[in-house]
Amino acid sequence: MDYQRLIAKAIEARKQAYAPYSDFAVGAALLGKSGRVYTGCNVENASYGLSICAERVAVFKAVSEGERDFEAIAVVTEKGVTPCGACRQVLMEFGDDIQVIMADAAGEYRVLTLRELLPEAFTPENLK
Ligand code: THU
Repeated sequence: MDYQRLIAKAIEARKQAYAPYSDFAVGAALLGKSGRVYTGCNVENASYGLSICAERVAVFKAVSEGERDFEAIAVVTEKGVTPCGACRQVLMEFGDDIQVIMADAAGEYRVLTLRELLPEAFTPENLK
């Protein structure tokens, strides 16, 4: 799967964003090593702290369906921002070489590895 196709899935997922409080819609599409794609959008709540980011929805969907190895994640926002720190940490659990594709609403993108986005991370290795 090429980056453009993964971005297209994240753009589609972003349409489902439930963000009445921030009005900041985010879509994610996580590519598993199996070739399957797991999408996510942010889901906010009237009790603000219970809101969850698009990336974590995608990761939890994937893991709950049995996939733990990932190639890449596309994250789409209006202007193509980087994922929040909490999502970087949750992704890091499953490997530091995941390609993080950050795209804007028009599909323009840049790519960094998770290791680049979260250097010196605390990982499962540290618990051994
Ligand atoms: N959000 C994400 O979905 N992913 C990120 O990486 C950054 C933030 C969501 C959370 C909240 O619903 C809204 O964007 C504003 O912070």
